[in-house]
Amino acid sequence: MFFVRTVSKDDLAAVSTLLSETWHDTYDGIYGRGKVAEITASWHSIDTLEDQLERPHSEFIVADDGTRLGGVAFAAMSEQASSDQAKVAMLHQLYVHPDCQGQGIGLDLLEEISNALSDASILKLEVDPANTKAVAFYEAAGFAKTVETQDCGGNSGIPADVYELQLTRAGS
Ligand SMILES: CC(C)(COP(=O)(O)OP(=O)(O)OC[C@H]1O[C@@H](n2cnc3c(N)ncnc32)[C@H](O)[C@@H]1OP(=O)(O)O)[C@@H](O)C(=O)NCCC(=O)NCCS
Repeated sequence: MFFVRTVSKDDLAAVSTLLSETWHDTYDGIYGRGKVAEITASWHSIDTLEDQLERPHSEFIVADDGTRLGGVAFAAMSEQASSDQAKVAMLHQLYVHPDCQGQGIGLDLLEEISNALSDASILKLEVDPANTKAVAFYEAAGFAKTVETQDCGGNSGIPADVYELQLTRAGS
């Protein structure tokens, strides 16, 4: 049984491995193994994950069953408000290890991120349309496509679709 908890410094090596293995499983068939190795070595290095851990107004969580990590999510408040000044949080990472997918972990992580970033009224993300599994997951979770970008993650040259979820709060 997986439970969701905050990431600590001691988790970072396991998180890096989880991200690398999940990235290869998800993207080798789309971008090729070499390109995936290059991206994951940079985006998922311990140094980069340490910076994530220290980022203000962010939430960095894992699903843990006491023996292994099954998934990870990271989101941070964006400095840009939406056109109607709503506060936006960006979901930078949501990865469930291939051995653990389809058990509800993705939804659990998404729910915790949405609850924890309680200032946000919109949760935004970028997803490659070729990643059909993730697109089906996000659409089932209520996200809707808004625009397209040619530079997923800001520095990759990878095209992506931008999706948003309106977060409804109890009492709002
Ligand atoms: C996309 C991902 C985060 C989903 O997490 P998950 O734990 O596997 O998904 P869940 O078990 O919480 O699924 C919740 C719902 O999403 C939908 N869904 C999930 N996987 C799906 C799939 N492969 N095809 C269609 N719908 C899917 C279903 O509606 C599912 O509900 P159901 O099981 O009651 O039918 C996970 O599969 C993953 O990490 N994939 C690889 C990495 C990735 O692409 N991350 C996103 C990058 S932008």
